Amino acid sequence: MAEQKATNITWHEGEISRDQRQAALGQKGVTIWTTGLSGSGKSTVAVALERALLERGKHAYRLDGDNIRHGLNKNLGFSAEDRTENIRRIGEVSKLFADAGIIAINSFISPYRADRDLVRQQHDEAKLPFLEVYVECPLEEAEKRDPKGLYKKARAGEIKGFTGIDDPYEEPENAELVLRSDQLSLEEEVQKILDLLESRGLLNG
Ligand SMILES: Nc1ncnc2c1ncn2[C@@H]1O[C@H](COP(=O)(O)OP(=O)(O)OP(=O)(O)O)[C@@H](O)[C@H]1O
Ligand SMILES: [Mg+2]
Repeated sequence: MAEQKATNITWHEGEISRDQRQAALGQKGVTIWTTGLSGSGKSTVAVALERALLERGKHAYRLDGDNIRHGLNKNLGFSAEDRTENIRRIGEVSKLFADAGIIAINSFISPYRADRDLVRQQHDEAKLPFLEVYVECPLEEAEKRDPKGLYKKARAGEIKGFTGIDDPYEEPENAELVLRSDQLSLEEEVQKILDLLESRGLLNG
């Protein structure tokens, strides 16, 4: 857990409640957190889901691991410590999006259970919905897909600490949804997430 460095800081309340904000927007904020091996399909699912939500008139926004590492988290690498900080920061950012009433669709390998649990805890404490979606794909299949050629590099020893090869992936134990991306079509995966949102009352204003 990151330490609180600053002292003499006081939370400044606004005048608009979250409920008022959501009512004005006609939608509810939520964090959808996809996790899984590289190449499992997190980004692919996120892109399709964002479109499906937009078609339903819902404002969604993708927070994608690689994209965030181009900016906010460009000073972080792939050591265990940096991976933890990567997820902690993006958990906070996603919380802000959800609080703002946006459907935040995250795609981060987020290999460590404790890191994901911390993000869940951040949301629980803020009373914001958090849905962990495990995009499950056998390593052999993800490696066969290898959309970015990263497994090939990792096997050749050109990338160290690659999840699934020489760094662990800790499977979720209590994910709200598990999508077997080697068995389901992309359309089925998106529909399952929409069904989950619907069942939680998150698709009505
Ligand atoms: N059912 C499916 N769902 C999602 N992706 C699929 C499916 N079937 C095949 N694929 C393919 O698998 C690949 C998944 O790559 P993608 O970049 O989405 O993975 P990722 O989990 O975001 O990886 P990374 O962690 O490296 O960013 C794509 O090439 C996609 O077309
Ligand atoms: Mg991705």
